[in-house]
Amino acid sequence: ADEPFPTDLLDVDDLTADQLAALLDRATELKTGRDLTQLPRTTLAMLFEKPSTRTRASFETGMTQLGGHAMFLGPGDIQLGHGEPLKDTARALSGYVDAVMARLFDHSDLETLAEYADVPVVNGLTDDAHPCQTLADLLTIRETFDGFEDVSVAWVGDGNNVARSFAVGCGVAGVDLAVATPEGYGLGEDCIERAAAAGRAPTLADSPEGAVEGADVVYTDVWVSMGQEELREEKLPAFEGYQLNEDLLGGTDAKVMHCLPAHRGEEITDEVLESDRTLVWEQAENRMHAQKALLVELLA
Ligand code: CP
Ligand code: NVA
Repeated sequence: ADEPFPTDLLDVDDLTADQLAALLDRATELKTGRDLTQLPRTTLAMLFEKPSTRTRASFETGMTQLGGHAMFLGPGDIQLGHGEPLKDTARALSGYVDAVMARLFDHSDLETLAEYADVPVVNGLTDDAHPCQTLADLLTIRETFDGFEDVSVAWVGDGNNVARSFAVGCGVAGVDLAVATPEGYGLGEDCIERAAAAGRAPTLADSPEGAVEGADVVYTDVWVSMGQEELREEKLPAFEGYQLNEDLLGGTDAKVMHCLPAHRGEEITDEVLESDRTLVWEQAENRMHAQKALLVELLA
């Protein structure tokens, strides 16, 4: 029998391979179709502890297109930022809204939110995971390469939240992934085990060159994530040689992915980001299509 769709999406391995495939199919339908108002009079609360451009705009626009409404709750606006415990916010919001999307620092806070909210909770990024980004990335890869069968992906850079969810998502979808991260900045054993348990573990390359060799698409993200600003001086030296530039990609026609925002001149050059290799605008647009599909799966 088909597994019931999960109540919350805290990371990509909350979905089975079949649920992920169905969600991506629905995203494609919504992207190309006209039947948009599938969630009339539905309200999504959007809780943000960190800044955002894409996550906020894509969820808010997506809810409008589905016939619902999204409510932005920034850290300065609500009592959460003034000492009210998250578990109280969760229970109060559950009395009004149909779902909560949250961008929080601690992943354990997201788990607390999911525990106390009696409406679906969607992860809009934590320090550990960014599953909505992965849904958009997998949609982008599937569109660009006509499926997941014959595509090899490389991750080069920090083993951060985006990398971890992407590795787990590649595990669920069965995508071939090679990962190059500096010593001390890897994905973490737990992430590799979860990718393996979901269906496919990433290959660990011993250099950026090793990961990029044979890759159809190379993915990176910032070296200093939101909340890590004070680690900047300590982190940066470890990433020498990890920049996506024409030297590293030279001779290949690999595409490049980046979740954005990008730090040009650091993890990627302006030249590469602005070249024909780039899939970043497809990724950004697909955030909305993938999230609309997710909201319909969770709420319709
Ligand atoms: N990729 C992403 O989540 O971007 P924002 O921080 O702008 O939401
Ligand atoms: N790794 C980045 C992603 C931003 C969308 C961060 O957490 O800041």
